[in-house]
Amino acid sequence: MAGLAPFLVLCAYVLGFYRVEAAPDALSSLNSSFCHGGLEVIYPELDINNCLIIPKHMKLRDKVSTVWKSPQINFSAAHKKKMYVLVMVDPDAPSRTKPTSAHWRHWLVVNIQGSTLKKGHMHGTTLTDYHPPTPPQKSGFHRYQFMLFKQPPDTAVSLTEQEKSVRGKWDLQAFIKRFHLGAPVATLQFLTQNYKD
Ligand SMILES: *[C@@H]1O[C@H](CO)[C@@H](O)[C@H](O)[C@H]1NC(C)=O
Ligand SMILES: *[C@@H]1O[C@H](CO)[C@@H](O)[C@H](O)[C@H]1NC(C)=O
Repeated sequence: MAGLAPFLVLCAYVLGFYRVEAAPDALSSLNSSFCHGGLEVIYPELDINNCLIIPKHMKLRDKVSTVWKSPQINFSAAHKKKMYVLVMVDPDAPSRTKPTSAHWRHWLVVNIQGSTLKKGHMHGTTLTDYHPPTPPQKSGFHRYQFMLFKQPPDTAVSLTEQEKSVRGKWDLQAFIKRFHLGAPVATLQFLTQNYKD
């Protein structure tokens, strides 16, 4: 921890309701234009509706990695009668400088009924169980990206046997193309790093 201190410029940013202390590296990789569409990711003590660096205070980084289960997803702009696909990935696995395992698939839910997303109680078919962000120590900040797609009617979205067997090195673009998901209707990302760093 002491070794990292010289590299940290402690500056307070107000992002949403939270005061954030972060390294310049984290700030430059927090691409705010990524977040659009009004997607909301709700953890017990953290309501994320904007691109955000998870603050160190209140042990929020510990909790997002070791305590909290899958977040509640709220998308008030959902069409009641449409279906959606939710993807959560880490493009920085195992680190942003050497993302040899990207994309790492944290969560994949399909057949999500719009009516349930609208109420913040997403209901669908889970193809990959939620795995919390667990960035390795000393691997820097990772981006955790949530993307919501409209699922084309009468489309059975699935993973191949190969994809099912491993979360890492997921070809997200190939998946998007295979089911004609197009551009996401809403995206959101947060950054965090190992809570011991
Ligand atoms: C930021 O995000 C936008 C939207 O996803 C993307 O087009 C752009 O390339 C990103 N920029 C960087 C520097 O990653
Ligand atoms: C979902 O988002 C809408 C719009 O921001 C808000 O009015 C509503 O309270 C949110 N629902 C939940 C369950 O957070």
